[in-house]
Amino acid sequence: MKSLSIERHADSGDFPLAVISECGGLKFTEENGLDRAWALGIFYLEFPESLDLESARSFGQTLLEPGSPYRKIPQFGDLEGFIALQNNQQTKLALRRCRWDQYYPAEIATFGRSLDIIGVAIIREVLAQSGIPQSCWGQASGGYAVGEGTAFLNFVHYDTRTSCEGLRPHTDYGFVTILDATKPGLQVEVNGAFIDVPVRPGCLAIHFGEALRYITAFSDRCVSAVRHRVLSQKASDSVRSGIVYFANPDLDGKLVQFDVHGQQKCRSSVSDFFGLLERELTQ
Ligand SMILES: [Fe+2]
Repeated sequence: MKSLSIERHADSGDFPLAVISECGGLKFTEENGLDRAWALGIFYLEFPESLDLESARSFGQTLLEPGSPYRKIPQFGDLEGFIALQNNQQTKLALRRCRWDQYYPAEIATFGRSLDIIGVAIIREVLAQSGIPQSCWGQASGGYAVGEGTAFLNFVHYDTRTSCEGLRPHTDYGFVTILDATKPGLQVEVNGAFIDVPVRPGCLAIHFGEALRYITAFSDRCVSAVRHRVLSQKASDSVRSGIVYFANPDLDGKLVQFDVHGQQKCRSSVSDFFGLLERELTQ
């Protein structure tokens, strides 16, 4: 019965809604919101008042200017810098937390740290619900749940000069993705069919990723990693821009699966875990 109710709500674009409470925790506005979010792997989160979203959106828009100095930020490995993805329309400026102060304007680095607070609040609620003892949370999450780990703050656009998919179907690799998008195009897979995730004014879209599914797999409450895609954006559309924050473990660290007794069930280096996902995605 529960899954039927989850499908019915999601089919109508009615995804669960949560807020960050005054004490900094995650609270769902409906009684079954948390159950639905954990099963779907996606929910809306009302913008916390403390979030300076407008200046972040303005910064994102400046990246469309061909002369923007931020388009000249070099690539660091495969994941960071100003990057055009192959076989997708997406271009992005992507930087992990340790580079924000050096490369982003001060208000954007501050914005990223506001998203850190939201990301930690979400993963701590997931871990609290999981029954995994709190003493294990830091180790389970490669540091992220205790304010370490890493995070990416990315500014994305869709280049309509190519006819590729906007972003091909995938699950995110990390724990939690925080998305601010102001135009339609995002779809998630629910029971084998992709359905629209409407832009909900005043809200961010929160996705659960593979690493979160992995670390809760032996717990009392496992989460789903949501498969999603972005539809091809057409030249006649106004440019679809987004701000994306990825909550991740320390990329040189480990993910550990614990049960509710604090017993280690399995572990993986983050590089092996992400490498496996990458191979599956590119096959
Ligand atoms: Fe994604």
